[in-house]
Amino acid sequence: MKLLLATHNPNKVIELKALLTDHPEIEVLTLNDLNIAEEPEETEPSFEGNAILKAQWAMERSGLISLADDSGLEIDALNGEPGVYSARYLGKDTPYTLKNAIILDRLKEESDRRARFVSVVAIAYPKSMHNEGDTAIIVSEGIMEGSIGFEALGSNGFGYDPIFIPYGHTLTYAQLSTDVKNKVSHRGQAFRKAIRVLIEGESHAL
Ligand code: IMP
Repeated sequence: MKLLLATHNPNKVIELKALLTDHPEIEVLTLNDLNIAEEPEETEPSFEGNAILKAQWAMERSGLISLADDSGLEIDALNGEPGVYSARYLGKDTPYTLKNAIILDRLKEESDRRARFVSVVAIAYPKSMHNEGDTAIIVSEGIMEGSIGFEALGSNGFGYDPIFIPYGHTLTYAQLSTDVKNKVSHRGQAFRKAIRVLIEGESHAL
């Protein structure tokens, strides 16, 4: 089975490919492999909406079963920001070293450090691969609760990894290896559930 990973984020590709090493029956392709340079605009107000939008867009472009993740960090003391706007928060091209420093500064007097990463994974099937009337999409969610640290630590991963400490750990996501992060992470949880459904050949309604 061929599966297209509908992202240009190289870190997401590394994480998703690592999660698929136990599934040799799945041949993984990326947008770069298909020379697809663009990505759709994320116009939906929810993780679920944007994950579905990206997966369906990639499936229509490629004719392949396509998987997209839409994810972000919700910080309680910032009223859930950056949330669904995580990639654009404080400027799309602002380096994460700066974004993370600004967030730490905004929280410097704050004792409520609670935060969570959320991921919604959507897998879209081409019409030719499902029966009329069947739903053509798998959707699953993963949430990792945790807290925002007092300094940015670690150099693995990407984005907000250096400031997020997953619940039950003392290290940030950026101090964990890809394999350990994948075992606990929001994306790992959502992805494993979606892949299980894909492999079992089931799909469920939205
Ligand atoms: P998306 O590609 O539109 O889903 O944007 C997700 C954004 O959320 C990324 O650009 C990061 O800012 C943030 N994000 C999502 N997952 C992670 C993660 O695992 N580590 C760090 N940041 C993440």
